[in-house]
Amino acid sequence: MRKALVISCLLAVVALLSFKSGRLQFAIPKGWPKPVYDFAKNPLSQQKIDLGSMLFYDPVLSRDSTTSCASCHSQYNAFTHVDHDLSHGIENRIGTRNSPALMNLAWGSSFMWDGAVNHLDVQSLAPITNPLEMDETLPNVIRKLQSSKRYTAMFYKAYGDSVITGERLLKALSQFMLTLVSNNAKYDSVMRKQAVFTEQETKGYTLYKQHCASCHAEPLFTNNSFENNGLYVDNTLNDKGRMAISKNKTDSLKFKVPTLRNLKYSYPYMHDGRFKHLGQVLNHYAMGIQRTPTLASQLQKGIFLNNEEKFLLLAFLGTLNDKSFVSNPSYGYPKKNFEPNEGL
Ligand code: HEC
Ligand code: HEC
Repeated sequence: MRKALVISCLLAVVALLSFKSGRLQFAIPKGWPKPVYDFAKNPLSQQKIDLGSMLFYDPVLSRDSTTSCASCHSQYNAFTHVDHDLSHGIENRIGTRNSPALMNLAWGSSFMWDGAVNHLDVQSLAPITNPLEMDETLPNVIRKLQSSKRYTAMFYKAYGDSVITGERLLKALSQFMLTLVSNNAKYDSVMRKQAVFTEQETKGYTLYKQHCASCHAEPLFTNNSFENNGLYVDNTLNDKGRMAISKNKTDSLKFKVPTLRNLKYSYPYMHDGRFKHLGQVLNHYAMGIQRTPTLASQLQKGIFLNNEEKFLLLAFLGTLNDKSFVSNPSYGYPKKNFEPNEGL
């Protein structure tokens, strides 16, 4: 009896130690600001990241097991979708916005195009319960996961026991998403002095700093603020952006400034995916700006660029594409965790 007790105590200590030693340090790229996300409240471990990755790619999170997070956030597209402007969810229901590319979320201070969500750990609840996206409830998801040996084993590995709770599930999803750091574009190599810009890219960089950097600020290429960049209002969607959340008139038509990283992979652009090409985006800033009361002051006169300047700016934007991000196998479908005949 006593022996059994001693052994089980020892086992518990070993489990605790290996559990603790699984802790990982979040690597902050050199020269980048401190992350906004508080890792002390959700310490990273490989087991939790693996669990988060498995959940991210698993359609079990949707009511009819057809739609995973990755259905709308695919790695090859810098974790957005490219085949349509507005997102498509369960039973092909069409959403009201374009899914944003997911990267560098540890530095995000608010989420969604209108900042409706202020913490990454609750973000995943929104798509799971949105009738146009996954149309499921958290208790149901938990019930489904509890009946899976694979998941109870993974929760055990991640948390030291196999209890599945909403908080654990959401935090594991956050952990996977927090690892999606894109900092290996040519721009980053140049900043690390491991590469140099071509003459055209250098000139494009100057144009970017003149016209775009006040909102799309380095090194994340967003300042995380909400701005009205002069898009005409789509009468069908009639999306007022930030105002729907803050109820403040001065926020009408303001949307979260998106990053300019990985644009090669993340088209179409803007909150409703209205532009398919970067040329259209530049034409918008030159000639399409709508003068409404909340238009950003920097854009009052538009940003007129001649053809050569457009070419140079596009050359610079090209240096923000990070091929290693969209091809990194550790962000991809978690093959190693899916055993045939072992599923739900
Ligand atoms: C049906 C498509 C769809 C599915 C499925 C989906 N998303 Fe999204 N996601 C979107 C759209 C659209 C938005 C923007 C919504 C808005 O601004 O109102 C978004 C926004 C986000 C954001 C905010 C990004 C930012 O920079 O503001 C995160 C993070 C995210 N989704 C993660 C997830 C996770 C995790 C899952 C799975 C649990 C998931 N998404 C499932 C379409 C989807
Ligand atoms: C006043 C702030 C501001 C300035 C200056 C600005 N932008 Fe933007 N940009 C935004 C906002 C806000 C959005 C999102 C608008 C929306 O979807 O409703 C955006 C969206 C974009 C997008 C779409 C990205 C995506 O993932 O959908 C691109 C590309 C872009 N801007 C490029 C530029 C370039 C290039 C410049 C300089 C020539 C520039 N922007 C100047 C605020 C700004």
